[in-house]
Amino acid sequence: MLIITNISKLIGILPEQTLLLKGQQMQQLNILENAYLIIDDQGFIHDFGTMDQLNLDNYKNSTDLEIMQLSDRQMVLPGFVDSHTHIVFPAWREIEYVMKIKGMTYEQIAQQGGGILNTAKKTQNATEDELFKAAAERIKEVISLGTTALEIKSGYGLTTESELKMLRVIKRLKQTFPITIKATFLGAHAIPLQYRDNPDKYVDIVINEMLPAVAQEQLAEYVDVFCDKGFFTQQQTERILDAAARYGLKPKIHANELGFTGGVQAGVKYNAVSVDHLEYIGTKEVEALLNSNTMPTLLPATSFFLNLIYAPARKMIDSGLPIALASDFNPGSSPSGNMKFVMSLGTLKYKLLPEEAFNAVTINAAFALELSQTHGSITRGKIANLIITKPVPSFEFLSYFFAHDVIDSVIVKGQIWDKKAQWF
Ligand code: NIG
Ligand code: FE
Repeated sequence: MLIITNISKLIGILPEQTLLLKGQQMQQLNILENAYLIIDDQGFIHDFGTMDQLNLDNYKNSTDLEIMQLSDRQMVLPGFVDSHTHIVFPAWREIEYVMKIKGMTYEQIAQQGGGILNTAKKTQNATEDELFKAAAERIKEVISLGTTALEIKSGYGLTTESELKMLRVIKRLKQTFPITIKATFLGAHAIPLQYRDNPDKYVDIVINEMLPAVAQEQLAEYVDVFCDKGFFTQQQTERILDAAARYGLKPKIHANELGFTGGVQAGVKYNAVSVDHLEYIGTKEVEALLNSNTMPTLLPATSFFLNLIYAPARKMIDSGLPIALASDFNPGSSPSGNMKFVMSLGTLKYKLLPEEAFNAVTINAAFALELSQTHGSITRGKIANLIITKPVPSFEFLSYFFAHDVIDSVIVKGQIWDKKAQWF
């Protein structure tokens, strides 16, 4: 049993039945001042309260009792949930970033076989071991930055063999690390050059070859399609989602990043867990989302890094929608998995209140991975995934202090995360 005492602020307390926060509810934030929190031996949150209610004598006969007394002004919050990443890739793409600085657009680079296809070629040539090691190092880093649950997509394979290779790497990452990881099959991430004149042929391969193989090995929980201008159409997306539904794979799709592409409507129609990106959102899209259980997920680091327009987050919340924020960690459009920075971008670029940004990277992000029964808040019985901050003056300071580290330590399933431990 681990008892954390003298917590200056215990942040993000929610009742068990709250699985997401929408509209004005996103401003809610429950904080206990001068608090304690008890973690049981299985790694779950056992109890919490204010220091004056804590009687340590009640616990003195517990086995392995450990008390962690915080110093002045240290806060505790739930670990971040990153519900959209492409963290398995063989190499960074810093040269394309220079091309962008010189004036080329993301779409122009993609047209020339750069972008996703560049990473795909390298992924096809990489071994499973190489991919695993590269991704594992990144996972260690994002856990140190407070991420305690993570979605990872395939999508740089673009052949049946290489997509399966990526998904097997994700499976190995799940078995290696103590954080919760969910896998998404993204065979329809880009159209390989040889299918440029006949993209439907590639869609056939995704449906007839890849999906059955992925389902057979049970390698993914979700299916994704990059439904956007220059990538996959709404109709192709719906064909894939329809086929995936027959294997029990729910959609989490890339939609409306580059235009009004019908991606949101396609996602909602197939009961997507989330639709992600959403730079282009009008009243039709808002309407569709309001009548759904789909979590709109925004990726502000991508808009920041590519100088795209920002999703109309304020308008969406003011219309009564929930939103989640994720990193989109990948080598092309968001080479960062820092969820605290994502939270800061949410406040600075979307004009979210710090409370809204916080809820978007915790409980709502957990909802976007169907994990909000067990993750995303300080709630008795949930998994003890926690961030302990350094001494800080206030809750608002977390997103305000945008480029600095405020994390003292991270607790994953009740255990203090050791940055230097050998995991593989
Ligand atoms: O989410 N939008 C599509 N795919 C990724 C980019 C991947 C890449 O450029 O490698 C994204 O931004
Ligand atoms: Fe993405």
